[in-house]
Amino acid sequence: LNRYLKLVCTSLQGQRFHTAVSRPKGRTGAEHLWLMRHLKDPFVKAAKVESYRCRSAFKLLEVDERHRILRPGLRVLDCGAAPGAWSQVAVQSVNAAGTDPSSPVGFVLGVDLLHIFPLEGATFLCPADVTDPRTFQRIRELLPGHRADVILSDMAPNATGIRDLDHNRLISLCWSLLDLAQHILHPGGTFLCKIWTGSQTHRLQKRLTQEFQSMRTIKPNASRKESSEVYLLATQYRRGKGSVEE
Ligand SMILES: C[S@@+](CC[C@H](N)C(=O)[O-])C[C@H]1O[C@@H](n2cnc3c(N)ncnc32)[C@H](O)[C@@H]1O
Ligand SMILES: *[C@@H]1O[C@H](CO)[C@@H](O)[C@H](O)[C@H]1NC(C)=O
Ligand SMILES: *[C@@H]1O[C@H](CO)[C@@H](O)[C@H](O)[C@H]1NC(C)=O
Repeated sequence: LNRYLKLVCTSLQGQRFHTAVSRPKGRTGAEHLWLMRHLKDPFVKAAKVESYRCRSAFKLLEVDERHRILRPGLRVLDCGAAPGAWSQVAVQSVNAAGTDPSSPVGFVLGVDLLHIFPLEGATFLCPADVTDPRTFQRIRELLPGHRADVILSDMAPNATGIRDLDHNRLISLCWSLLDLAQHILHPGGTFLCKIWTGSQTHRLQKRLTQEFQSMRTIKPNASRKESSEVYLLATQYRRGKGSVEE
């Protein structure tokens, strides 16, 4: 089913939100059911109306509405950014395209293994693997002052359907990103990541609690109830090796 979500989201790569209704060969009954539900989904409809590239935009909008993590002038690193809906939200909120001349201009850098269709106000590094050291160097070079104020991760590995395996892989992805954060996240900065809950959830929460002043677990309304996905929001970053280096 995750394969389908990806298909639906990435088939938009770019221009307009559009969903294919034709039933490709090999789709199972469950996948068909999922797609039917997807087509009725109010967030999918809203995404079309507001021309977001993916319904996932509403998860970030909701987190931001509740916790105010984005504001004009901030530098945002958006990991797992394809097809670009979170980056769209970030560009608007940090004024990265300079649309509001009376507010400070922010910066948005999106990274993904997949190609991302260009977006005004955003810089995209793709195809690139966030866990690759070469990607890390490029990220550092591209960020103004080599720092991000906010690191977002909606990254997800291709799900195998084996719950523990998928959970562990996503947790390690977040773990590596936190290792990178030591070098690029500004002290006082924010870290938001998606996880699929499981046995390692607590370990990651514990690390976030140590490295940030505040940590909370969020299940946005726009996140499907049947999904084990939740978001961990950590604010007020305490460390930052980078700040000592320079
Ligand atoms: C759920 S999608 C992100 C949707 C995006 N937030 C949006 O609103 O358009 C997850 C993305 O994570 C990407 N991803 C997974 N592992 C990655 C990695 N190691 N490096 C970069 N991107 C990765 C996938 O290619 C996929 O596009
Ligand atoms: C989420 O849904 C609940 C219940 O429907 C509602 O009270 C709340 O305002 C919603 N939150 C957001 C941020 O939309
Ligand atoms: C998922 O699979 C697609 C197609 O095989 C591939 O292009 C993509 O890089 C994979 N994504 C991840 C996160 O491994």
